[in-house]
Amino acid sequence: MTKAPLLSLLLLLLAAPRAAALTITLPPETARLKQIPGVEAATPYCYTCHSVDYITTQAPNMPRSFWAAEVDKMRHTYGAPVPDDQVAAIVDYLVKAYGDGNSKR
Ligand code: HEC
Repeated sequence: MTKAPLLSLLLLLLAAPRAAALTITLPPETARLKQIPGVEAATPYCYTCHSVDYITTQAPNMPRSFWAAEVDKMRHTYGAPVPDDQVAAIVDYLVKAYGDGNSKR
């Protein structure tokens, strides 16, 4: 390959008008996880991809198995970077805050 195409590409890039800086203002985050003990386990991991409305609007009183499956799906299907040793604490919190709370399932 000669250097000419590379040089012309470089010149083209230099000559291209600078893209205007793009500013995006996101709407304020209004949904919040229920602030009960244990919320600190979920906070670092459950706000990053989507609003926590997805959590707070699930059917009430779902059993532990449901919330464990949700966290599992977030990790393994969607790639949520939740460390293994945080999973139990997050599921405990979700069951207490949004699930059937007393279930031993
Ligand atoms: C890596 C990104 C990511 C992270 C982090 C994440 N989620 Fe999700 N979540 C998703 C995607 C993608 C969907 C599906 C969105 C859709 O269908 O529109 C989803 C959907 C959901 C839903 C709706 C029901 C369902 O199964 O689709 C719930 C509940 C949920 N997430 C809970 C959580 C909880 C709890 C956490 C924290 C442990 C979490 N998410 C963290 C990506 C993520």
